[in-house]
Amino acid sequence: MNVGVFIPIGNNGWLISENAPQYKPSFELNKQITLEAERYGMDFALSMIKLRGFGGKTEFWDYNLESFTLMAGLAAATTKIKLFATAPSLLLPPAMVARMAATIDSISGGRFGVNLVTGWQRPEYSQMGMWPGDEFFSTRYAYLSEYIQVLRDLWETGHSDFKGDHFQMDDCRLAPQPQAPMQVICAGQSDAGMAFSARYADYNFCFGKGVNTPTAFKPAADKLIEAVAKTGREVTSYVLMMVIADETDEAAFAKWEHYKAGADTEAIAWMAQQGAADTKSGGDTNVRQMTDPTSPSAVNINMGTLVGSYASVARMLDEMADVPGTEGVLLTFDDFVAGVRAFGEQIQPLMKSRTHVDSPVPSRVAAEAVAA
Ligand SMILES: Cc1cc2nc3c(=O)[nH]c(=O)nc-3n(C[C@H](O)[C@H](O)[C@H](O)COP(=O)(O)O)c2cc1C
Repeated sequence: MNVGVFIPIGNNGWLISENAPQYKPSFELNKQITLEAERYGMDFALSMIKLRGFGGKTEFWDYNLESFTLMAGLAAATTKIKLFATAPSLLLPPAMVARMAATIDSISGGRFGVNLVTGWQRPEYSQMGMWPGDEFFSTRYAYLSEYIQVLRDLWETGHSDFKGDHFQMDDCRLAPQPQAPMQVICAGQSDAGMAFSARYADYNFCFGKGVNTPTAFKPAADKLIEAVAKTGREVTSYVLMMVIADETDEAAFAKWEHYKAGADTEAIAWMAQQGAADTKSGGDTNVRQMTDPTSPSAVNINMGTLVGSYASVARMLDEMADVPGTEGVLLTFDDFVAGVRAFGEQIQPLMKSRTHVDSPVPSRVAAEAVAA
């Protein structure tokens, strides 16, 4: 199973809580996390695009770096790990994203890919006069289908004459083309989103659900398998999960309860309001599940969460690996620096699905060796 880290490009990562670690995003922090992930043999790092935060006492996500420029910096700072940036398709023309991706492909030596999003939170775009109107909730994947055809034309042939409703290319050119095939991820959960991924993407993210219910995402993985059967392409699922681990199950659950007790209700209320704004997409978007304020997991955007000892988390991750159609996980942590290290030193060595990874000498042991 492949393992990636969803690096904290926004403040406080994915915990909307006054009791969670409070930090602002910076290049140095994200570099430290990505270098650690690379050292422990993690397969990829991905950053999201988020342009408007949720406010509240924790100013949740009010501070966010930009995804492509962050990943360009990380591309120069790393050597092995694969990197993905997120493209806001409403803001950047596809010919420009194709060229930005080709540039980071060059910086990274072919280690770069793109997470393509339609956007779901109106104020991110309306604040800059770029929201096309609420009809977009229902047309967004038709728009994204045209967008990706331009990208694929340019990356694969260096040329596009695509003519559609949204994009018209006129002998549009891209050189140099990327040295490695450009991989595209999407996080389609709706019928239209899954159909899009099955037709055009290489991987699809799905949402894990619940606390310590590691295989609850199976219906989403099955839905992708069905969609892919219609297109005959190879597209696999990657599951978003938060890991809260410690020496014992009790210690890990104590942290989880503490985070929930400090939930920033004002920021969560704003998130719920945003999630409810989409009344046009047929109702099967998972954005409402993500933003449901009544769920006990609203504190981490209702993301599937693995809470427990290192051994418990390793066992649950292995269970996920066994779900058909699942190629990997995208992990978030309550504390990213400590979390990635604990994953590399304590969890991964216990995972059957990660025996192919050479675990490096634990940093504590290495530090002691240097001191001696
Ligand atoms: C792992 C993951 C990463 C995502 N990253 C972003 C992002 O960076 N920006 C964004 O606007 N939406 C992001 N989303 C939301 C999705 O693009 C999508 O809107 C959501 O999953 C709903 O699916 P649907 O559009 O098919 O209804 C992400 C979702 C997941 C699961």
